[in-house]
Amino acid sequence: MAISNKEFKLISEFLKEHSGIIIKPGKEYLVENRLTIMLVQNGCDNYLQFYQKLQKDSALRTKFVDALTTNETLWFRDNTFFDGLEDHIIPQLLEKSKNQSKIRIWSAASSTGQEIYSVGMLLDHVARKKGIRFEPRKFELVGTDLSTSALQIAKLARYNQMAISRGMRKDFLTRYFVKSKLAYEVAPNIKNLVSFKQFNLKNSFISMGKFDLILCRNVLIYFSDDFKKDIYSKLRTALSRDGYLAIGGSETPRGLTTSFKQFKAGRSVLYQAGP
Ligand SMILES: C[S@@+](CC[C@H](N)C(=O)[O-])C[C@H]1O[C@@H](n2cnc3c(N)ncnc32)[C@H](O)[C@@H]1O
Repeated sequence: MAISNKEFKLISEFLKEHSGIIIKPGKEYLVENRLTIMLVQNGCDNYLQFYQKLQKDSALRTKFVDALTTNETLWFRDNTFFDGLEDHIIPQLLEKSKNQSKIRIWSAASSTGQEIYSVGMLLDHVARKKGIRFEPRKFELVGTDLSTSALQIAKLARYNQMAISRGMRKDFLTRYFVKSKLAYEVAPNIKNLVSFKQFNLKNSFISMGKFDLILCRNVLIYFSDDFKKDIYSKLRTALSRDGYLAIGGSETPRGLTTSFKQFKAGRSVLYQAGP
């Protein structure tokens, strides 16, 4: 169903208000592709009627935001980054866990779970490599996202062949998954490390507590500079004193905040509270 300029403005502003996500003019096709079915299902003849329904119906609002999020993700997304984690950050966290009651790791836009489960697998893998006993009770891994449908998949931890083929290593597939007829399910020792909940990056981060490692990757690109600044400032307060922040390869705090200093983990760059 075709969207008019006025309707596009209303819909994109509403989306920004509720999620921070910006859809610029020129992306009308994206809104049309993702929302037409919802208009039909809700008996709306045009986007103005749909917009009016959105004001009153919170369940519809959730579905609307969900439909316009981009949940693209894969296992070990960006090899350079995950090499840096494996060789530098995870060994440090395992070491730190000897003197700290809990090591807390947060994937702040976890989508369908591949990112935080990849971290969980690496914790176990690096501990084995180093001959250290991995103690799950010493680690708390949290995945949050705005998208309820992405979180449903993350919680189930079941992935089809197509999802598995996107980045999963053969040796890890054998070690960290249980295969059934229809899917590969993350093995209980890794699955049980992680909890998921819905969380909007627009909210205050105070309830989340402090983290030793935060991954906020490939999500800031969807937001305005003002919203990015707000998120960076909240991320800084959510980092523990020597905690690390990871953002996406095409994202940078440069020009938005001076609250972080770079930390080089091999060829990958993370951030710590600074300067
Ligand atoms: C492209 S995925 C990135 C997933 C993963 N971090 C990665 O790098 O592979 C972006 C995710 O950000 C989520 N997202 C978008 N806006 C959000 C917001 N305001 N609060 C929390 N999550 C949000 C989307 O639902 C989506 O799952």
